[in-house]
Amino acid sequence: MANACCGISPMHVRILVLVGLAFVTHAAPFDFEDHGELFFVQSRAHFQARRAASSEDGVCMQIEDVELARPIRDVLAEHPGEDGWCIFGALGIWASKCAVARRSGSMVGFAAMGDAMYSRYLPVPKLMGPKRVQLPGGSQITIRDHIYPFDDLYCYAMGWYGLDRYQAVHNITYAEEVSKQSCGSLEKSYQNISMKEMMDRADSDAAELAWKVWSASPLPEVSQSLIDGMRLHAAAKCALSNGHGAICDVANCAERGCLLPEGTVGYTLRGECASVV
Ligand SMILES: *[C@@H]1O[C@H](CO)[C@@H](O)[C@H](O)[C@H]1NC(C)=O
Ligand SMILES: *[C@@H]1O[C@H](CO)[C@@H](O)[C@H](O)[C@H]1NC(C)=O
Repeated sequence: MANACCGISPMHVRILVLVGLAFVTHAAPFDFEDHGELFFVQSRAHFQARRAASSEDGVCMQIEDVELARPIRDVLAEHPGEDGWCIFGALGIWASKCAVARRSGSMVGFAAMGDAMYSRYLPVPKLMGPKRVQLPGGSQITIRDHIYPFDDLYCYAMGWYGLDRYQAVHNITYAEEVSKQSCGSLEKSYQNISMKEMMDRADSDAAELAWKVWSASPLPEVSQSLIDGMRLHAAAKCALSNGHGAICDVANCAERGCLLPEGTVGYTLRGECASVV
């Protein structure tokens, strides 16, 4: 039921982004040619920009639409020995650079790439005020990323804001252990997940969450379905790793932010958490 809720679409998110940027007075000019990079962790925005295949660059092959709709594990089974991130590397740097990182055994470059993306807007602190959201089960977090709040909810819901941040970026064994723990509980329920399902869901979840973060409500509620969407997202990333090895999002979350008192997400690029790259 992607995009069914609230009648908002990724296009609306982009409009929200534009409106938001109108508030930014001291920011560097925003390069909309590159705006897809902002969404690199989750979205299909890169989808148009498929690259020439080069496994050096983490793009093992071109990927057809029909492959996107098939269970990830079935696609991987046809390419034994290839990393799923590389098989789907043409979808964007969130996949290809992860393949490169995994091959090199270091997450540092991937985490630094996150900084480069977020640096386009996250250091501007006064875009809009903090937004506290109510999560199912009673906890609350404060999000101050009004452009792509998905990453805060995702990192938080997966427990990846609560890690040893240095180890998550610098110790691949640690990142693998965290990934394994996160993936273990997801594998059964999302056995047949496809890339299309993940991308469609990321689009609709990103839109729904942005809508909440931008809403006038003092304490918007994040639905269980949104939390489930975060788990679905992680499950697809787990499937890409064939259930083994590090998921690069772990390192990205570790570098992106940390939890400050009272559930406020702190941002490395605002000097609120130490950089660990
Ligand atoms: C890396 O992580 C593993 C697993 O958590 C741990 O046993 C090991 O001591 C860590 N290595 C270093 C150098 O910290
Ligand atoms: C995955 O698909 C197989 C058949 O291809 C089916 O037996 C199984 O129940 C499915 N798993 C889930 C969790 O939907």
